[in-house]
Amino acid sequence: MQVGFIGLGNMGSAIARNLIKAGHAVTVYNRTLAKAEALKGEGAAVARRPAEAARGAVVITMLADDAAVEAAVFDADGILGALSSGAVHVSMSTISVALSQRLAAAHAKAGQTYVAAPVFGRPEAAAAAKLFIAAAGPAKAIATCQPLFDAIGQRTFVIAEEPVKATLVKLSGNFLIAAIIESLSEAVALTRKAGIDPKTYIEFLTNTLFAAPIFKTYGGLIAAEQYSPAGFAAPLGLKDVRLALAAAEAQQVPMPIASLVRDHLLTVIAQGGADLDWSALGQLAARNAGLPVK
Ligand SMILES: NC(=O)c1ccc[n+]([C@@H]2O[C@H](COP(=O)([O-])OP(=O)(O)OC[C@H]3O[C@@H](n4cnc5c(N)ncnc54)[C@H](OP(=O)(O)O)[C@@H]3O)[C@@H](O)[C@H]2O)c1
Repeated sequence: MQVGFIGLGNMGSAIARNLIKAGHAVTVYNRTLAKAEALKGEGAAVARRPAEAARGAVVITMLADDAAVEAAVFDADGILGALSSGAVHVSMSTISVALSQRLAAAHAKAGQTYVAAPVFGRPEAAAAAKLFIAAAGPAKAIATCQPLFDAIGQRTFVIAEEPVKATLVKLSGNFLIAAIIESLSEAVALTRKAGIDPKTYIEFLTNTLFAAPIFKTYGGLIAAEQYSPAGFAAPLGLKDVRLALAAAEAQQVPMPIASLVRDHLLTVIAQGGADLDWSALGQLAARNAGLPVK
């Protein structure tokens, strides 16, 4: 399939690579050209503007945040003006509910289709084509995209016909991950201060009642105090918790744990941790407990 791919960060580079490997004709665009050029040798065509990547049946965006997606879509050389009638924009970035609604309306007005397909899984999972995809949009468009989803993920869950519902599923999921990282951080600080080896502690937890991948991944990172290089940087985590809180406020749903985690991520960043993984909540909990940190 002719597919455009916009946004070659930690996630996007790995996803685009898997689309190429699966035999799709991929045109890539990235703000920093070097990351696009790096995929040339693997068979990607390189676009100089987002519009040039929007000439096939599907264009996928995997960008950092709302501002980046807005620019790629609505700017003069953006994809809205270039995508042909009937073509599909698949947004995989984690964005706000408000922007997802705006994208659905703008693409519909232009005779195009918008699918929200945010993903669960870190860059390692993206590289291994093991992402989980939460997709929402018109059934016909999801069917068109299914071969692309199959090339990058281990399973696609179709949430609903309205794209915004997948956006909200992603935000609520990332809130839950953040809440678990926070709880793990506090539990590890408590046991570490009492002299219990963090690796032994996490080994115990994740082989008994807490065997889920999220406890294994983040428990391992916190026990090893391995917060760099960031697989998912603290500012991106802060963005997602803020977006979950905005969605919650719009629906009058109090989320006190999200408010606390928001403040803790902000603290990590304010104390110089903007380049650290969001699991650096573990470092903050240790520091707050008076423990030495790496
Ligand atoms: N990392 C994870 O574990 C993970 C998991 C699931 C979902 N996500 C979501 O996936 C998305 C991408 O995450 P990532 O980890 O790949 O982020 P990343 O490594 O920081 O990459 C961000 C991408 O967005 C581009 N970008 C940022 N600001 C821009 C702007 N103003 N204009 C144009 N391009 C801009 C960057 O271009 P440059 O190369 O020029 O900087 C880069 O291509 C985010 O929405 C994130 O929340 C991440």
